[in-house]
Amino acid sequence: MTDPGERLRSSLAADQSTATSSGMGDWDSPIAMEALRATRVLHAADQDPFPTPGRIRVITIANQKGGVGKTTSTVNLGVALALYGLRTLVIDLDPQGNASTALGVEHTVGTPSIYDALVGDSTLTDVVHPTTASPNLLCVPATIDLAGAEIELVSVVAREHRLRRAIEAHIHGLPADQRPHYVLIDCPPSLGLLTLNALVAGDEVLIPIQCEYYALEGLGQLLSNIDLVRAHLNPGITVRTILLTMHDGRTRLADQVADEVRNHFGDLVLKAVIPRNVRVSEAPGYGQSVLTYDPGSRGSTSYVEAARELAQRGAAMGQPGRTAAPVPEAPPVAALAFSEDGSSQAPGSTRTQDSQ
Ligand SMILES: Nc1ncnc2c1ncn2[C@@H]1O[C@H](COP(=O)(O)OP(=O)(O)O)[C@@H](O)[C@H]1O
Ligand SMILES: [Mg+2]
Repeated sequence: MTDPGERLRSSLAADQSTATSSGMGDWDSPIAMEALRATRVLHAADQDPFPTPGRIRVITIANQKGGVGKTTSTVNLGVALALYGLRTLVIDLDPQGNASTALGVEHTVGTPSIYDALVGDSTLTDVVHPTTASPNLLCVPATIDLAGAEIELVSVVAREHRLRRAIEAHIHGLPADQRPHYVLIDCPPSLGLLTLNALVAGDEVLIPIQCEYYALEGLGQLLSNIDLVRAHLNPGITVRTILLTMHDGRTRLADQVADEVRNHFGDLVLKAVIPRNVRVSEAPGYGQSVLTYDPGSRGSTSYVEAARELAQRGAAMGQPGRTAAPVPEAPPVAALAFSEDGSSQAPGSTRTQDSQ
């Protein structure tokens, strides 16, 4: 059985029937089921570790739109990979420092941070911090100093390659058994020099797409920027993963956006979909990921499922140097249109030829 959702459900069902037959009371209740799910998430690594990738995966999490779930996905995928046994490094590349906040890593002005490695003389090794989420998870925080980096980098030699070189030097300086399996780079909501550094540093891009109207707007610009980076700066970069975020099961629109994205991007889209879930948005306020804040919540288990898929795909990956798979063009925004009365139309009814 390969579908992770199905796996989780059947393993929960097995637990439930054992509990019922052993006279442990009413395991049908939502609270009991949530408790079981929480146990699954927190004791995951011993029971069901994720497979290691065929090579170190440096994944750039990008989408120039703000508020689509880049930071939330970076943090929660990072924690899930780490809890399930994979060494993971999260690099916060957004001056807002939201990923650092969510991982409980200090990022006040003056804290050794990604700024010092990009603009200053520090190595990445100098600015890596531990996290409380897992010993497998390290974080390079971002301070507000990074806001000036877009301008300061302009005059720096090889300015687009700063992050790539920093990551390579860091990895090569570590003994093999301490090197990260995964490096996740959380991008700011723009296509400036910081995002460019992240696209040059990464081997692959993960694009979170919010299941909302306008979700696809601007995606074309991002994809053509990635094409430009591939042509001129980083021949290996490719979009490998699309993650649907903030799916609201109560709206038809969310399903329509999800269908449209799947029609267009096919297998790049993870089967796991992240629901809109209040626990996900509460967790950063406590300096936590949703997996540690409320492990049994739907937000938590869906991020575990997404991370599992990511890891399973990574395990099937070969060594570097493979030819990058062609990336489909972005679907037109008009692929999702509203009728004049404001109700949404079926995507198929308005889809244009190049979104097929
Ligand atoms: N699945 C979700 N359910 C509920 N709220 C979410 C979810 N994912 C993200 N959010 C909230 O949406 C906002 C934007 O998410 P964020 O990850 O910061 O986006 P980005 O990094 O792309 O700007 C944040 O307040 C975050 O807590
Ligand atoms: Mg962000």
